[in-house]
Amino acid sequence: MPKPDWISWEDIHQLLLSAHKKNIDKGIVMGTSQLSGPELEKRVGELGRCFVALADDILVGTTSVGFFKGRSWYDKNQLVAHSMLAGILPRYQGIGIVDELNAMRDAYIHEVGATIIQADTAEGNTIVRKNAKRNGYREVEYRAFKSGHYSVIFVKWLNGCPFSDRYIHRRYKLSERLTKIQYKPGRIERSRVLSLFCRAIRKVILIH
Ligand SMILES: CC(C)(COP(=O)(O)OP(=O)(O)OC[C@H]1O[C@@H](n2cnc3c(N)ncnc32)[C@H](O)[C@@H]1OP(=O)(O)O)[C@@H](O)C(=O)NCCC(=O)NCCS
Repeated sequence: MPKPDWISWEDIHQLLLSAHKKNIDKGIVMGTSQLSGPELEKRVGELGRCFVALADDILVGTTSVGFFKGRSWYDKNQLVAHSMLAGILPRYQGIGIVDELNAMRDAYIHEVGATIIQADTAEGNTIVRKNAKRNGYREVEYRAFKSGHYSVIFVKWLNGCPFSDRYIHRRYKLSERLTKIQYKPGRIERSRVLSLFCRAIRKVILIH
């Protein structure tokens, strides 16, 4: 259900912290697991929505969606639904709760009229990457975030995929190489010259 008022953003923050515990133990610290309640609310935004799953009135799962206008080759000028902040309490993981949350989220995305869903996860978060592939998402881009790992961006085109598999794969691989040439994990630039070079290529090839 959409987050009711009696569940606070602080409750969502605590849930995400617990959900991410295994990731953190594995050294995958995702920035979103560290956001405070007010930061989460801001991230979701006015048009966005947070959804929750309850078991006997206890908060056990959540996911959210926000919206923005796309600027990259795969989403340019489209209204993008940004799926984010998914987390299930550890003892409730692996029983399909996220699918039910995603179904609610997708109905809302349809209502708002977005044409593409975008999400990201840490390179090493194999559970999420596998789940996304199974649900028709395509990996399109690499990014380096300050939280210390590389991230994979994946999207699902809601009106059919406008690109060939080969084209998507080539762009994705190019993005991975450029990101890893430009940044060490943690978004630390390797050198000024390399950065200028990668930015120039990105501007010409990836965005336009
Ligand atoms: C990723 C997450 C939201 C998936 O939600 P879920 O309701 O557990 O998803 P499912 O029940 O559909 O399980 C998805 C897969 O993960 C596996 N899985 C889920 N939890 C697991 C766990 N704790 N350990 C090992 N495997 C697990 C399931 O067996 C299933 O595998 P399969 O695809 O081979 O069948 C949830 O596991 C979670 O909160 N993870 C930690 C936080 C996180 O990584 N959030 C996403 C940030 S992008």
